[in-house]
Amino acid sequence: MPTNIRWGIVGLGKIADTFAKDLALVSEADLVAVASRSLEKAQAFKNTHNSTFAFGSYEELFTCKEVDVVYVATPHSHHAQLAIQAMEHGKHVLCEKPMGVNREETSRMLNVAREKQVFFMEALWSRFMPAIVRAKELIDSGTLGDIRYLHADFAFYALDRDQKGRILNPELAGGSLLDIGIYPIFLSYLILGKPDKIQSTSKFHATGAEIETSMIFQYANAQALLYSGFSCTSEMKAMVCGTKGTIYIHPRWHEAQELTLQIGEETESMLLPKTGKGYVHEIHEVHKCLNNGKLQSALWSHQNSLDLIETLDLVRLQNGIRFPFE
Ligand SMILES: NC(=O)c1ccc[n+]([C@@H]2O[C@H](COP(=O)([O-])OP(=O)(O)OC[C@H]3O[C@@H](n4cnc5c(N)ncnc54)[C@H](OP(=O)(O)O)[C@@H]3O)[C@@H](O)[C@H]2O)c1
Repeated sequence: MPTNIRWGIVGLGKIADTFAKDLALVSEADLVAVASRSLEKAQAFKNTHNSTFAFGSYEELFTCKEVDVVYVATPHSHHAQLAIQAMEHGKHVLCEKPMGVNREETSRMLNVAREKQVFFMEALWSRFMPAIVRAKELIDSGTLGDIRYLHADFAFYALDRDQKGRILNPELAGGSLLDIGIYPIFLSYLILGKPDKIQSTSKFHATGAEIETSMIFQYANAQALLYSGFSCTSEMKAMVCGTKGTIYIHPRWHEAQELTLQIGEETESMLLPKTGKGYVHEIHEVHKCLNNGKLQSALWSHQNSLDLIETLDLVRLQNGIRFPFE
């Protein structure tokens, strides 16, 4: 019988809290250690989420022998440094999205994963959501015919956020594109691959952070219309349209639990519930890979993360989106 997988979490902010609640739903997972820059905060998190250890520095968690896999949940600007540190200590790593802030960081991280022979995955949770998995299967099996048009967006109002927080602060790689624009770009990449040509335009906040980006991805026989933004809240229904039919991925599409398939006049609704908040599915994928001795996921591979960040880099280059530390 396989033994439980022992998790550690570094960076105890909002997503760490949500993730820890989902981790508790997975009986084969134990939350062993949590680490914050503040010991007091780590102890409070440990008590809330029943962890064994609480550390007042990330380094202590990386050297903790009881931890098998580290979940990196810090702002994007700190993913590379911390994931690399964890892997250099021989830990497997699940790193929040985006894996690195640019291609250079991402490929450095992937090199360390290869050198150290540890499991490494970007926490692109939508890829493992039952509704997205089903949509991809239907599209790949030709149900929609040839895909010609895709529409996906991700927008919520965030202009009232703390200007020093990770959303609006360029020092923390703030901006809509890397935070939420990554999802529509992910969907277009998942269904159509890397685009041949990109047209895009961005708007910026007084802090210098990018707050809105509209994108058209051109493919040989298809176009994708994508948007991310912090200026307003959008419906977040995605659609993928082919020569034979269309799939609507219900709001909010990146965590969808329902699809509608339309072929001609016929429509079919499919309920595909997620477990917990939805992070359970990526946790299962990590466990499956670790239990099978795999160092990367076949559903969201190292190459997928590299392709995604290269596409994000191109949009950034077109619009002059640069971070002060780059
Ligand atoms: N998959 C998803 O659905 C999803 C959703 C939201 C966010 N995310 C990703 O998760 C990451 C964290 O997002 P979040 O919303 O949880 O952010 P957050 O609430 O700001 O928390 C980030 C945590 O990182 C740590 N940290 C380390 N260095 C920091 C620094 N210089 N400034 C601020 N915090 C620092 C802090 O923890 P300590 O004080 O404990 O050290 C902080 O609480 C982002 O990369 C984001 O893309 C993913």
